[in-house]
Amino acid sequence: MLEIALINGPNLALLGRREPEIYGDETLAGIVSRLSAEAEGLGVRLSAFQSDVEGELVRAVGEAGERGGGLIINPGAYSHGSIAILDALNAFPGPVIEVHISNVHRREPFRRRLVTAMGADAVISGAGPMGYSLALSLAVNLLRR
Ligand code: DQA
Repeated sequence: MLEIALINGPNLALLGRREPEIYGDETLAGIVSRLSAEAEGLGVRLSAFQSDVEGELVRAVGEAGERGGGLIINPGAYSHGSIAILDALNAFPGPVIEVHISNVHRREPFRRRLVTAMGADAVISGAGPMGYSLALSLAVNLLRR
């Protein structure tokens, strides 16, 4: 069965209580269980990983790449500066969708610089937690193309 890896970066374990006016009130556990059910409906398997540590995210991207399939990643604040994560995304063999819950273009200017997005096939920003569902259907679509 095809795998879609869902990887979330720093502070995303706090979803639900972290600035809910920006990020909504759905928890990460809620997003993961909702997405797992959606993945099952699409005939793929979802794996989920979250870390606040850059190197752990790099390793998780590499390991997901070895297993094959697609990748949905929200690198959090590392999106704006991590060349290590960008390099890992560039080495990922399958489709990569970068998700931002908030519309980073409507916020502080420093959030407009998206370093890791250079390694993504598509970027979804500002769709709220629903952006993960959009990314899932896009990743499955790209994998089956
Ligand atoms: C975020 C946007 C980033 O600027 C921020 O640092 C995050 C979350 C988003 O999902 O909107 O941690 O990636």
